[in-house]
Amino acid sequence: MPRVTVAIPPCPYDAVIENGALDRAGAYLREVLPQHERLFVITVTPVRRKWGKKLLDALAAAGFQASIVEMQDGERHKKLATVETLTEKMSRLGADRSAAVLAFGGGVVGDVAGMVASVYMRGVPVVQIPTTLQAQVDAAIGGKTGVNLRTGKNLLGTFHQPRIVLIDPAVLATLPDREFRAGLFESWKAGVIGRPELFDQLEKISGKALRRDASKLEWVIAESVKLKAEVVSQDEREGGLRRVLNYGHTIGHALESATGYRHFLHGEAVAWGMIAANHIAVAGGHLPPDVARRINEAILNAGSLPKVTSQSRGILRRLQADKKTNSGVVHFVLPKEIGRVEIARDVPDKVVIQAVDELRRISGSSSSARN
Ligand SMILES: NC(=O)c1ccc[n+]([C@@H]2O[C@H](COP(=O)([O-])OP(=O)(O)OC[C@H]3O[C@@H](n4cnc5c(N)ncnc54)[C@H](O)[C@@H]3O)[C@@H](O)[C@H]2O)c1
Ligand SMILES: [Zn+2]
Repeated sequence: MPRVTVAIPPCPYDAVIENGALDRAGAYLREVLPQHERLFVITVTPVRRKWGKKLLDALAAAGFQASIVEMQDGERHKKLATVETLTEKMSRLGADRSAAVLAFGGGVVGDVAGMVASVYMRGVPVVQIPTTLQAQVDAAIGGKTGVNLRTGKNLLGTFHQPRIVLIDPAVLATLPDREFRAGLFESWKAGVIGRPELFDQLEKISGKALRRDASKLEWVIAESVKLKAEVVSQDEREGGLRRVLNYGHTIGHALESATGYRHFLHGEAVAWGMIAANHIAVAGGHLPPDVARRINEAILNAGSLPKVTSQSRGILRRLQADKKTNSGVVHFVLPKEIGRVEIARDVPDKVVIQAVDELRRISGSSSSARN
């Protein structure tokens, strides 16, 4: 069973990746919360319905008293008002300083529950139990918490590292196909950034087959987690190295915001963003065209993506607006080869426009594109 240490001082923690981890949640939690009795499981209705009983049974077996605290499902509830509602509920249920929070859901639950734990009574422990592929391979590791403001995503937040991350690939059985595929793009991302063997393996297996192959899926998640753990262990607060995790995210975020966060799932926008970054890397002479082609084909073969229809100049304007919130620079993470990336600033506007035009062209001609 893979156990990956996230070596962030002062309290390093483990991510356990194991089919059936949910059944053993009580025992795992006892290791890291020996003195705690009361647990508050923050979750959403679909996850509680499918997996809540299994988790509660496992916790009860280890002598924990756990209460479910539900939030409304969806990115639009990732806001400060939800933090207030959840903490009011916890307070009414008698949560005191000895309470601990379990984040049991996708990235939205992870971010909100992490923030709840970081501010409730000035901070109580949190355990992440991610239930989407996106959250298992990415969001649950690294301790970033947060909510959105009307003016932008994730503008309010804290760093609050979990005591342990329990990843049970078995819970993905109930995840819709599209969510699974979208999350898998973050694994492709990890492969290109620093795990060429992961990239090779993903190339050899379709997403559908991977869903049915429990041990392979466990391996893919573990490799993705290792990459994220290595990066955040060296740079918790995104001083430098952590930026490499943004491969595909510069243009990806712009595509998401240009379409009001309704057209793409996050991972789908990142998929397009990786293709755009590859185009920019080739244009600058940093990446051999045949390697770019290999990555792009792998991404496009991974399943249908909603089309890119945004105007290239509009995307450029969004990047320039982002610049204001990012100390005046737009960073692009560009591959040099599969397994190695570099950070580039000052990519000429013309090249960015060409890259987005390329996405529009692929969207127009690709038979796999939908919408
Ligand atoms: N903190 C970080 O470092 C970090 C990193 C990446 C992304 N994020 C955040 O993560 C969020 C996106 O996360 P997400 O993609 O997991 O979306 P999500 O949390 O909205 O989950 C997607 C949907 O899947 C459902 N679901 C969850 N688990 C399920 C299961 N096992 N079976 C069936 N349905 C299930 C949810 O109810 C939801 O409707 C964004 O808000 C993003 O900002 C955070
Ligand atoms: Zn992402």
